Amino acid sequence: MLAGRRVVLGVTGGIAAYKAVEVCRRLVDDGAFVSPVLTDGALRFVGATTFSALASEPVRTELWDAADPIPHTRLGQGADVIVVAPATARLLSDYASGRSADLLTATLIATEAPVVVCPAMHTEMWEHPAVQENVATLRRRGVHIVDPEQGRLAGGDLGTGRLAAPEAIVAAVRAALAAPDLEGLQVVVTAGGTREALDPVRYLGNRSSGRQGHAIAQAAAERGGDVTLVTAAGLATPPGVRRVDVESAQQMYDSVLALAASADIVVMAAAVADFRPVVVCAEKLKKRDGVPTVQLEPTPDILAALGATKRPGQTIVGFAAETQDVATNALDKLARKGADLIVANDVSAPGVGFEHETNQVTVLGADGHRVEIPLASKRAIARRVIDEVVALRTSHTRETTP
Ligand code: C5P
Repeated sequence: MLAGRRVVLGVTGGIAAYKAVEVCRRLVDDGAFVSPVLTDGALRFVGATTFSALASEPVRTELWDAADPIPHTRLGQGADVIVVAPATARLLSDYASGRSADLLTATLIATEAPVVVCPAMHTEMWEHPAVQENVATLRRRGVHIVDPEQGRLAGGDLGTGRLAAPEAIVAAVRAALAAPDLEGLQVVVTAGGTREALDPVRYLGNRSSGRQGHAIAQAAAERGGDVTLVTAAGLATPPGVRRVDVESAQQMYDSVLALAASADIVVMAAAVADFRPVVVCAEKLKKRDGVPTVQLEPTPDILAALGATKRPGQTIVGFAAETQDVATNALDKLARKGADLIVANDVSAPGVGFEHETNQVTVLGADGHRVEIPLASKRAIARRVIDEVVALRTSHTRETTP
């Protein structure tokens, strides 16, 4: 989503200015054209050269540039999004009052692009009514505020005021750019491989990392969805996502079926065990008792249950991780489980599926359509899968609206 987008990265003079370097790097890694704009204060903490080495566009520090007499209008009009990280109390005040004091504030006032502001300052400053009023004013005007976090501040103090983590800032930039096409919709996403206990310490599991499911939850949240992630993976919770931790297929079934009653979209990205031990030993199985025979029974099929109880207007998406006859098996799954879309991947292909950062999938629709999504990061795949969900829902709405 950031690929090819023009991002102005404003940096003001707080100690957290060094963290803006990481934000810059992540934006560039995501394919954005980043124009850093540093205030005089920022230059006291970090050098322009650091940003020049990372960013694709020239670093700007001055309103007065002989070669480009109106850099602020050019930057402001050309930006797809502007992010200020860190934003000092001074920046919040100037921006809220419309005071064009330097290149960054002039650019902010000259733009119609979405703006993300990430304040960072000492707790006393952050909590001052003047600062809070400026933040409220900016929020009211539609500026996206990434609230500071609690933690250690400059000088060793503890409190609220620390700049949000770079990944949260980049996620907010993406969200500010994304079409809010899932706004008002409840989305349930599952992720990770379930674990089926044999005894208190052992389980039957699988190689799913949960990365694809977590990325889908993040992509859905970035587009305004009210997202609940039911996960069996130990990965971090994407910003703005509600999390339910589960371990077994049965726990996932119970959570998902309860949530599905009010969900508009359910994406079953989890690798759910198909079988579980009939007996779960209360005590650890002992070697001295000999080799145990483990009898298995089927787990409840969550996707099939969702398909069977599907409400009109609900979209159910399944995944098919296959090692052979991918399309045939996926189509069979689509019909058998009553899903609207199946995201199929050949997990035996290089760079694809479990334990990889990348994936390559084919999305198959119950209406017979088929979309190939070439090898890309799991984040990029997630956004494309959400595109397909939105496209399907739009076409259904069109069909059912007279
Ligand atoms: O049949 P198979 O397990 O290959 O189907 C994969 C799809 O079904 C995935 O979307 C997975 O999350 C879902 N599934 C499920 N409940 C199971 C097994 C798989 O919902 N018990």
